[in-house]
Amino acid sequence: MAAPEPTLVDRRPGPAEITADVLAGLSMRPRSLPSKYFYDARGSTLFEAITRQPEYYLTGAEHALLRATLPRIAARVGPQARVVEYGSGSGRKTGLLLRALDDAVAYTPVEISRTALLDSVRALAGDFPTVEMLPVCADFTVLPPLPAPRRAAGRTLFFFPGSTLGNFTGRAAVALLEGMRAAMAPQGMALIGIDLDKDPATIEAAYNDAAGVTAAFTLNLLARLNREIGSDFDLSGFAHRARYARAAQRIETCLVSQRAQRVHVGGQAFDFVRGQAIRVEYSHKYDDAGFAAMASAAGLRVSGAWDAPRRMFGLRLLQPL
Ligand code: AVI
Repeated sequence: MAAPEPTLVDRRPGPAEITADVLAGLSMRPRSLPSKYFYDARGSTLFEAITRQPEYYLTGAEHALLRATLPRIAARVGPQARVVEYGSGSGRKTGLLLRALDDAVAYTPVEISRTALLDSVRALAGDFPTVEMLPVCADFTVLPPLPAPRRAAGRTLFFFPGSTLGNFTGRAAVALLEGMRAAMAPQGMALIGIDLDKDPATIEAAYNDAAGVTAAFTLNLLARLNREIGSDFDLSGFAHRARYARAAQRIETCLVSQRAQRVHVGGQAFDFVRGQAIRVEYSHKYDDAGFAAMASAAGLRVSGAWDAPRRMFGLRLLQPL
């Protein structure tokens, strides 16, 4: 028998909210666009394709690390956990986690892409019939109240893999961790996947794959905006650029205007000169001291740390201070 359709809490941003964000970003200097809008249905598919590129080491390293360490992590979490995952994407890593945990009572993925959210929850519901699926379609930076599970839960475990935390600047990352700490109650935990700082050539290659999938992913942001808010970005007029800023420990991804051009958004005109960049994403990389300081600023301490071979990727368990 097919699993019943999950009830969806739907807080997707609509065209008015997206337009307001885009107008605000294009009015700043340097110009920027929020990376959360990468993830429409095509953006989510392209991101999945990125994770299969040989240069994008993050996903493979994290998967292997999860496989190796989840039994120990699950023992620390204990039975009947409620799992809340931010930016759950395809949900592949979630299967590993739910399998390792002892009798998880509920799973709440919070994901901005409705298609990715529903696809992953449908697949997981079939594999884990005793885990109550409580999906929330929302931007996890403005988290609505989380749906309560029917069965009493042990601890709440926030699961935030993939180094998605790295897509937030320091202050925003602290705010996200603070939100988790507030929602996890005193005995909750968070399991965070972080990309570790390493040689810039390896990092840069991951964001400039030879097949051009990351470039297509970045440009799809403009296609999405054209379709959903009626802007008129000419996709052939912008090019993907991703560089590692060593001092800031982050990849800075931009769309660079290839010529002088004018773009219209929400009734306003924006002129670009040749070479002018729109910043579309940061991907921060961490060292141990910097990450521990960030956790501590959010009222959390690192109570467990596991690194992939050659420190390609890290998993950190956080608990309230
Ligand atoms: C989702 N996030 C962690 C990815 C990253 O590595 O920053 C998004 C991405 N952007 C380009 N490639 C992958």
